[in-house]
Amino acid sequence: MVATGSDRHSTRTYYVSTPIYYVNDAPHLGHAYTTVAGDVLTRWHRQRGENVWFLTGTDEHGQKIMRTAAANGVTPKEWCDKLVEEAWRPLWAHLNIANDDFIRTTESRHTARVQEFIQDLHDKGEIYKGGYQGPYCVGCEEYKLPGELAEGDDGAQLCPIHRKPVEILKEENYFFKLSEYGPKLLEHYENHPDFIHPASARNEVVNFVKQGLQDLSVSRSTFDWGIKVPWDDKHVIYVWIDALLNYATAVGYGSDSAMFEETFPADVHLVGKDILRFHAIIWPAMLMANNLPLPGRIAANGWLLVGGEKMSKSNLTGIKPQGLTEHFGVDAYRWYFLRAIAFGQDGSFSWEDFTARYTSELANDYGNLASRLAAMVIKYFAGVLPKATAAGEAERVVQEGLANAVAAADRKIGEELDFAGGIAVVFDFIKQVNGYLTEQEPWKVAKDDSEEGRARLATILYTAADALRGCAVLLNPLMPQSSQELWNSLGADASLGVLAGQRIQDAGDWGRLPAGSEVTKGQALFPRLEDRTRA
Ligand code: MSP
Repeated sequence: MVATGSDRHSTRTYYVSTPIYYVNDAPHLGHAYTTVAGDVLTRWHRQRGENVWFLTGTDEHGQKIMRTAAANGVTPKEWCDKLVEEAWRPLWAHLNIANDDFIRTTESRHTARVQEFIQDLHDKGEIYKGGYQGPYCVGCEEYKLPGELAEGDDGAQLCPIHRKPVEILKEENYFFKLSEYGPKLLEHYENHPDFIHPASARNEVVNFVKQGLQDLSVSRSTFDWGIKVPWDDKHVIYVWIDALLNYATAVGYGSDSAMFEETFPADVHLVGKDILRFHAIIWPAMLMANNLPLPGRIAANGWLLVGGEKMSKSNLTGIKPQGLTEHFGVDAYRWYFLRAIAFGQDGSFSWEDFTARYTSELANDYGNLASRLAAMVIKYFAGVLPKATAAGEAERVVQEGLANAVAAADRKIGEELDFAGGIAVVFDFIKQVNGYLTEQEPWKVAKDDSEEGRARLATILYTAADALRGCAVLLNPLMPQSSQELWNSLGADASLGVLAGQRIQDAGDWGRLPAGSEVTKGQALFPRLEDRTRA
C-alpha cells in the first residue's frame, strides 16, 4: 500500500499547500480565502511546535495566460512577472501570509523537473501518442465531457463554471493511461476515508471514478507557451500536469532528496471545489504511476458567491481584498470568511453581515473585554496583575471553559479543518468570560476596601486576564496582529516570552500568566467601525 501524508506527519514536516493561482488577473476574495485558510492551518500547527512547510505560488503556462498577455501586448513571461510582483506577492504580504516558499511554474527549478517526471512516465510506458477531439474550456484549461456542458440562451454549449462557450479542439496528443488507475484510486479512497474532505466532495469523486476514467491528454501542439515535452519538442506539456507537479518540485523533487524525503507528500492540499478532480484523481494517479507517495488529504473549500454566482474576474464580480481590509482591518478580514462560512460549503459575502459580526463579536465581545480588563487592572492595581487568592466555583467554571475551548479548537482547526467551528468555540468562551465579569461585578467589589474585598477583586481580574491570555494564544494563528497587541497589553511578552512560542497544547493550563505582569492599555483591538473609517 502507498504511504500517505497522514501516516507520518508526527515525525516529519507538516506540509500545507494552496493551489497555484493563474496570473491572468489580480487576486480577488475567492483566491485569498484559500490562502488565508492555509495560513491559519500552518500557523496553528507551528504553534503546536511542529515543523511546518507552507507553499503557495503561481501557475503561469497555458492558453489562458498566453491570450491575456497577447491582449495586453506583452509576452506571457512579461505579463506574469508584472502580475506576480505587483499584485500577488504584495497581497499575501498585506494579508500576513507566512508562506515558506512561493513557486512560479516558469522557474527552472520547476520546468526541468517536470520534464524529468514526464520523461520517467514515458519510459515506464505510461504515456502513448493518440488523437482526441472534444469541447474545451480555456477558462478551466480542461476538456469537458459532453454530459457536463450547460446550454446558453442561443443554444451554444457552455462551460458550467465559466458560462462561456466551449471550443472544439482536435489534436494529436500524448496521453497518460489514467483509465487504468480507477480501481487503485477507489481502493485508496476506501482505505483512507479522510483522503478527500469534506464527505460530500469525497462522494462526488468516488461516483465520478466509478463511472470509469478516460485517458488524459497531457500535451498540446497548437500553441507553445508551456514546458516542452522532452522527447518531442513540437509539444508542450498540458498546463495541469505542469501545475500539479509544483507540489513536488518546490520541495526538492529531483534536486534535494533530503528536503523531499522530509517534506513530501503534502499533509493537506487546500483546493477550491472546482479543481477537486485534478487533485483527487489525476494527481494521485500521476504519483502512483511514478511510485511516489500520496498526500494525506485533499480539502476542498466551497465558493464565495456574489449574487448567487461564483465570484470571479471573468464575471466582473471579483472583489479586491484591499477594499475590505481598508475598512475592517487585516485581522478582521482573515477572521470573517473563516468564521462566517462553514469550510467546504459555498457562502455569500455581504458587507452588512461583515459589519454586524465585526461589531458584535470583535468590537463588543472581544475588544471590549480586553480594554475593560486592562482599564480595571490599571485603575485598581496600578497596572500590576494581582494574585488570585480567593478562587471559588465561578473561577473553576472559567478555568474549565478555557481548557475545553483549547481542546475543541485544536481538534476542529488543527485536525478537522472546521475553521468556523473552531473559531466559534473561542468566541463562545469570550462570551463566557464577559458573562463572568457581568456576574461578578468587579466594579462593585472594588468599593469594598477590606482585605477580603481586595482579594476577591484580585481574583476576578486575574481570572479574566488569564482567560484572555489563553484567547491570545488561540487566536494568534488567525489574527496575529491583534493577538500580539493583546499579549503586549497583558505584559505577557515580558513575563511569558514571545507569543508565537506559546504552544497551543499548553494554552488551557490555568495560571500561566504570572501575577506581577505589567498590564497596559493599548489602542482598541477592534475599534468601532465609525471610528476606524474616520481615522
Ligand atoms: N491554476 C489553477 C490551480 C492549479 S493548482 C495545481 C487554478 N487557478 S485559479 O486561479 O483559477 O483558481 C485558484 C483557486 O481559487 C481555486 O481553488 C478556485 O477554487 C479558487 N477560487 C476562484 N474563485 C473562487 C471563489 N469565488 N470562491 C472560492 N474560491 C475560488 O484553478
